Amino acid sequence: MVRRVAVIGAGPSGLASIKSCLEEGLEPVCFESSDDIGGLWRFKEVSEPKRANIYRSLTINTSKEMICFSDFPIPADYPNYMHHSRILQYFRLYAETFKLLQRIRFQTTVRSVRQSSNFSRSGQWEVVTASREGVEERHVFDAVIVCSGHYTSPHLPLREFPGIEAFEGKYSHSWDYKEPDDMKGKRVVVVGIGNSGSDIAVETSRVAEQVYLSTRRGAWVLRQVSDNGLPVDINYNTRFIHILFQVLPMSFLNWFGERMLNAMYDHTTYALKPKHRLFSQIPVINDELPHKILAGSVVIKPNVKEFVGSSVVFEDGSVVEKVDAVVFATGYNYDFSFLPRNVLQMSGHRVALYKHVFPPALEHNTLAVVGFIHALGAIMPQAEMQARWVARVFKGLKKLPSSQAMLKSVDSDTKDMDKNFVLSKLTPLHVDFVSYMDEIAGEAGVRPSLLWLFFTDYPLFKQILWGPVSAFQYRLTGPGRWDGARQAILTQSDRMYQPLKTRQVDKPKSSWLGRLFKLSLTAAVGGGAAYYVHRHPPSHLTSLLASLRPLSERAEPERSSIYRSLVVNTSKEMMCFSDFPMPDHYPNYMKHSQLLQYFRLYSEHFDLLRHIRFQWEVVTEDREGQEERHVFDGVLVCSGHYTHPISPLKDFPGHDTFQGRCCHSWEYKDANALRGKRVLVVGIGNSGGDIAVEISRSAEKTFLSTRKGAWVIGRMSSRGLPLDMMAITRKNALLTLLLPRALVNWAAERDLNHRYDHRLYGLQPTHRLLDRRPLINDDLPGRVLQGALVMKPNLQGFQGSGVTFEDGTAEENIDAVVFCTGYSGTFSFLPASLFQGSGGQLSLYRRVFPPSLERPTLAVMGLFQTKGPIMPLVEMQARWATRVIAGLSQLPPKRLMLTAIETERKRNIKSYPCPRQAALQVDFISYLDSIATEVGVRPNMIKLLLTDPRLGLEVLLGPVTPYQYRLTGPGKWAGARQAILTQWERVTQALNTRPEDPPELPRSSTPTLVLSLMVAGLATTAYYCKGSLATLQWDPTALLDRIKVYLPGP
Ligand SMILES: Cc1cc2nc3c(=O)[nH]c(=O)nc-3n(C[C@H](O)[C@H](O)[C@H](O)COP(=O)(O)OP(=O)(O)OC[C@H]3O[C@@H](n4cnc5c(N)ncnc54)[C@H](O)[C@@H]3O)c2cc1C
Ligand SMILES: NC(=O)c1ccc[n+]([C@@H]2O[C@H](COP(=O)([O-])OP(=O)(O)OC[C@H]3O[C@@H](n4cnc5c(N)ncnc54)[C@H](OP(=O)(O)O)[C@@H]3O)[C@@H](O)[C@H]2O)c1
Repeated sequence: MVRRVAVIGAGPSGLASIKSCLEEGLEPVCFESSDDIGGLWRFKEVSEPKRANIYRSLTINTSKEMICFSDFPIPADYPNYMHHSRILQYFRLYAETFKLLQRIRFQTTVRSVRQSSNFSRSGQWEVVTASREGVEERHVFDAVIVCSGHYTSPHLPLREFPGIEAFEGKYSHSWDYKEPDDMKGKRVVVVGIGNSGSDIAVETSRVAEQVYLSTRRGAWVLRQVSDNGLPVDINYNTRFIHILFQVLPMSFLNWFGERMLNAMYDHTTYALKPKHRLFSQIPVINDELPHKILAGSVVIKPNVKEFVGSSVVFEDGSVVEKVDAVVFATGYNYDFSFLPRNVLQMSGHRVALYKHVFPPALEHNTLAVVGFIHALGAIMPQAEMQARWVARVFKGLKKLPSSQAMLKSVDSDTKDMDKNFVLSKLTPLHVDFVSYMDEIAGEAGVRPSLLWLFFTDYPLFKQILWGPVSAFQYRLTGPGRWDGARQAILTQSDRMYQPLKTRQVDKPKSSWLGRLFKLSLTAAVGGGAAYYVHRHPPSHLTSLLASLRPLSERAEPERSSIYRSLVVNTSKEMMCFSDFPMPDHYPNYMKHSQLLQYFRLYSEHFDLLRHIRFQWEVVTEDREGQEERHVFDGVLVCSGHYTHPISPLKDFPGHDTFQGRCCHSWEYKDANALRGKRVLVVGIGNSGGDIAVEISRSAEKTFLSTRKGAWVIGRMSSRGLPLDMMAITRKNALLTLLLPRALVNWAAERDLNHRYDHRLYGLQPTHRLLDRRPLINDDLPGRVLQGALVMKPNLQGFQGSGVTFEDGTAEENIDAVVFCTGYSGTFSFLPASLFQGSGGQLSLYRRVFPPSLERPTLAVMGLFQTKGPIMPLVEMQARWATRVIAGLSQLPPKRLMLTAIETERKRNIKSYPCPRQAALQVDFISYLDSIATEVGVRPNMIKLLLTDPRLGLEVLLGPVTPYQYRLTGPGKWAGARQAILTQWERVTQALNTRPEDPPELPRSSTPTLVLSLMVAGLATTAYYCKGSLATLQWDPTALLDRIKVYLPGP
């Protein structure tokens, strides 16, 4: 009869085991070698030998409702994906609530566990422990639960890497990695694309010069932020999906799942495609890795062949030179060296344990291993379920089969695992989360009966069928039943939403059609599913920038200023100059430093430097302040308009007594000074988004306050291609023109909300998607879901060291406020007569020429904002301006210019109530086309389609890249056609870093249908506008207003 149980280890598995023993009336004594609970989740500044170690930034990749213990929900205000420090807090609450601490003997290491001399009679174990001082003690226990973890011994396969012993850089294992600080400016190779390798590559890439991630097999990469912005395990670890896995063929599920993943980012294009199918290995979960690959800061490489000096040679023959550091993220070996060898036999790659818990060959089943499992789901609930079963077996309330039957079952499980998963010596443990939970719950007598629930508690049944398989389901019935389980299940979505409710927005209207559909489906599928699951016991799962300058360490007055981490948000093919494509190997979204390199190449290629007089203003004053006067026939003003920060600090009461620090994004360089602080970022433009995300990685807490909200889009479109290349096309422009704006807004917002619901995330803006420029940020939703970034409404004022918001909430102890509230440009060197209106605005015809000048010999470049890259527009402005100044092109009379300016302003004022902002907006394609018409370089679509259909289709359906304006007319460039036809190759070239079959490029897909639609649209447009073609020539955007007359309003 078992009474006293030794529990080895006080990590999550150990805590669950102590509690389960107590529940069954056993007497657990837990030995923990360290001085605290939490196991792996207790962060140590220096990695401790023989223990699991984690890095400072580690955030769990399973969501809070899915990791918690079955009778102890994680507090509602905890974020969905928690930082390791929060996980530890939760374990502390758990241990305190259930009085587990008094059962733990800290700083006591178990040295050996041996069968006692009378084992065959008593089933007892002799446990030898050692105190911190090394004093040994001998104990006898009736049973033992091993919870010592299995990420303690780093697997460092140096022998497989010839030349490593003479490698001139440093190498280490991910077990030793804490933070990326010492990788600053270095060239780093990370080996292994598990979750550790991906996390470390992504984090290091923020400070390193370049990171290479080497993988011998590739990986499927999932996102935490799944459909509608919900955690991926909440969406997909449901019983309904589990049932689909039971009934549908695995090849279909693999095909379907891989298709869904590739639709997000094509794993072949991204050089990630693994050799195995999606469900045959546990995928990597990393939201940022694909973005880093697209931005070129992480380059995927094949397996390392050898090291030569400081170079790394890969299996495809490519070489990376001057490597400073290599991190081997090559996984872990398990180590149960304190157990007798004969206890843990092998079965294939894995330790032969009956249902991953009991050694089958023992005479008495008084030893169990808990937490030695790996599934696409959290370990904690699985370990808890194992512990509950173990306690009942020890107590004698559950009988195990005979040794022979268990051995047979182990072998059969091993065969199944080998069939269904890619297993190796390193990863021998895969199981399917739901199947395994149900299976062990069946053993413990706590598996919920769907059929019974269907008839007795339909609301709960619905939740259990459609909702995530959270551990509370296993407390509804049977031993250890918990009265709060039903309520915990019914309120799990409330707890999931709670941490996101930080900026209240209107409630979404639920569609009755949707509800009706779901109800019928529930009724139809529910009954069948309940019956099916009841009858079939679960088995294993077969289952900017043109004006921006090099980063100066300090913001310089009168000059624009950028932060260290800035990555452009328009892709290389869209933002390059029209006759100078960016080099093939440049990443699609590059760092500011690489863009500067491109400018250097450009100016060298066209020998521009000799025309630039550095350290001189245009009207002349030299470095010593000595004035010089020149006479020029024309002036191009290119001085930028992000030079003067707008800081509304004075608008906020209490600002003068605020005890924290305030600054503007213009001064911000990096987040170093804000480490561990509580920071408020005000304003959700692109600067606000970037800066808030960056600060949130090292600050204690970051709040992002917005008065209007924002639509947030990423840089990536379907299949992982650059969003601007997929969105800024003539086809889309025409569709937007022909379809009701309300319909386009609805469809685009719906698509965006499907990625992450803007209401749920507190981002929902007051304007429609097409009305304003959206915020481009790949990481913001993930940071919000992880609770590191908290959305807040508009700032109301300051109070001592705190701030108050317009919804009445307050945040205390704010150390710093960063105002990302935009810029104004001043042109103090220009004559006052050019500035008009009450606000003294610089009003410009087509955003270039002041209409008041008698002769158009002065032009302003780049003074506009657009939903697209700035550089092609500025280049086109410059081409036009130089022709006008040279007298090769004429401007209309002043009266017409003023009318055009006013029309443009009125059109924009709806979306941008601020007149200065309204005056700045231009539509990318129509503006580019209209200026190109002036220059005489606008491509003639009809002619192109008739004379060169391949090129014509690419121009019509593909991205509006700048080369299109070099096909004809003044400045024609012979390379333009080729540049257009090869633009997609340059996109994929930068990603093609690990040999794989190239994927199909999105070249003119479904051209016939789109072409017919467009021809019909063009004909309709021409018919309706036939009387006003002359006006439209001056103001093509008026076309929109004309067509709108025939369309329903928004
Ligand atoms: C980098 C990393 C990230 C991870 N992220 C996730 C995740 O997101 N989600 C997830 O579910 N899992 C994750 N895991 C898996 C992780 O192992 C589990 O979450 C969990 O910590 C397992 O708990 P455990 O109690 O079994 O082991 P551990 O947490 O490792 O605890 C074992 C305890 O036993 C003690 N111990 C060991 N040997 C002895 C001895 N001889 N005598 C006395 N005490 C001893 C140790 O000191 C330790 O306290 C991650 C693992 C790694 C390496
Ligand atoms: N955020 C998080 O929650 C988080 C973060 C990190 C880790 N984790 C968890 O921690 C556990 C350990 O993860 P891990 O990433 O450290 O280890 P892992 O999952 O075992 O991955 C090891 C990687 O190293 C590669 N590798 C091993 N030996 C190699 C060799 N000789 N040559 C080349 N490549 C080699 C493997 O490649 P093959 O696939 O080809 O074998 C694999 O890509 C996992 O459970 C993981 O989910 C979670």
